Amino acid sequence: MTPSKASTLISRSLSSSVLAALLVSNSFAQTVDPAEKGERIYGNYCMTCHGESLINSGQSFDLRKLKVTEKARFENSVQNGKNQMPPWKGVISASDMQYIWAYIRTLANDKDQVSSE
Ligand code: HEC
Repeated sequence: MTPSKASTLISRSLSSSVLAALLVSNSFAQTVDPAEKGERIYGNYCMTCHGESLINSGQSFDLRKLKVTEKARFENSVQNGKNQMPPWKGVISASDMQYIWAYIRTLANDKDQVSSE
């Protein structure tokens, strides 16, 4: 086999393994539950004040009270803050906010109601 044929073979097999790795990571991303992802972000940024599993002893807002129709309120309060709560704009990305919302929905008082979005 000529050297150039060998290098073509190597680069072909390399690119197919790169492709395989991409496919694997892509299908992994699709199987990650948004609510689970949200729970992790919540644990990092929100839990100290809002409590484990959204339960706190009254020192901050009970996030389980947010209704399915109050997503805009949620986004606005998280981005801009409210009273004792600092604004999270620039810290929590728009997509992270969607993950946190998905997590909150799993524990919300009205969790049986499905969001129209
Ligand atoms: C430093 C403590 C603290 C942290 C950390 C914190 N919050 Fe808050 N949060 C509060 C307090 C206190 C309130 C009640 C504000 C009020 O109504 O006076 C509140 C209220 C809220 C509300 C309801 C606001 C409304 O519309 O009435 C939402 C939604 C919220 N927080 C989401 C979050 C999310 C999401 C995170 C994490 C990214 C977070 N908070 C992190 C203290 C905190």
